[in-house]
Amino acid sequence: MEYVHQSVLAHEVLEHLVPSGTDPLMIDCTLGEGGHTNLFLETYPDLRVIGLDRDPNIIEKATYRLSKFGKRFTAVNTWFDDYLATYHGEAPALILFDLGISVYHYEESKRGFSFSKDEELDMRLDPSAPFSVADIVNTFTEQNIADIIYRFGEERYSRRIAASIVRHRKESAITKADELASIIRQAVPASYRYGRIHPATRSFQALRIAVNRELERIVPAVDRAIDLLRPEGRVGVISFHSLEDRPVKQLLRKRADGCVCPPDTPRCTCGGKPAIKIITKKPIVPTEQECLQNPPSRSAKLRIAQKLEVAT
Ligand SMILES: C[S@@+](CC[C@H](N)C(=O)[O-])C[C@H]1O[C@@H](n2cnc3c(N)ncnc32)[C@H](O)[C@@H]1O
Repeated sequence: MEYVHQSVLAHEVLEHLVPSGTDPLMIDCTLGEGGHTNLFLETYPDLRVIGLDRDPNIIEKATYRLSKFGKRFTAVNTWFDDYLATYHGEAPALILFDLGISVYHYEESKRGFSFSKDEELDMRLDPSAPFSVADIVNTFTEQNIADIIYRFGEERYSRRIAASIVRHRKESAITKADELASIIRQAVPASYRYGRIHPATRSFQALRIAVNRELERIVPAVDRAIDLLRPEGRVGVISFHSLEDRPVKQLLRKRADGCVCPPDTPRCTCGGKPAIKIITKKPIVPTEQECLQNPPSRSAKLRIAQKLEVAT
């Protein structure tokens, strides 16, 4: 079987996420094709990993790849926020989040993640989710589509793009990824068509985030991960854009401070104590060489925190 995704910041993740204590457990919240988990299981012979992914097809690939580790690896097909919220098992030594989607999704999934492909416009990680991207572009109001593209894609031409989508769907339903990309391309000014990125990049990112409710899952999951870690355990979060990174940065600061009093309170009355120490004062980013070898890594940022021995 071929694995198309190259794990991002693999060297740095291994260097900073060293399992503490005996008989350690890791939860890989974004298993994908299992690249990071494979590295961890090869590096630490006494480590066990629970790998989570909401996509049933990619989890099948990872399970095949990791079957050589026998009972040291367990796969669970779930959203990471749902899983962590109800997890009451042993305290993990490591928890890893490598956010977003995998190269697999663009190249192999056939679910319309790539704007250059003649594929059904779906983009759901969970095939049983109530609506797809095709449902959004064909049934949501123009205002709603514009808001999604602006909020989750930070696309400055969101209104023009939404108006063009609504004009086109009056003629016939928009069902294919390359068809939507071409509608977006025509909607934006000529200067934007030939910019650094494809003019549909931000809109595709926004629609994918909306359909999978990606952003709202991150903070509750990382917050809960901090609670679950064993003392001296570490959490690592790799993000790929500021909409993912900013709330993680703020959450880590909050949990490293502990105090939840309003900012204008003269002295702390909440009694909150720091739960973590931030290991990466500045996020770790890929080397120039990694960016060249693996272009999808270009925007990656890795943040790491360590659970304090005596937490709140
Ligand atoms: C960047 S890939 C992970 C790549 C993996 N670390 C590797 O090295 O092969 C992210 C994976 O997380 C999954 N995913 C994204 N958000 C998720 C969520 N909230 N819950 C569960 N899985 C999620 C995606 O389906 C995708 O397979």
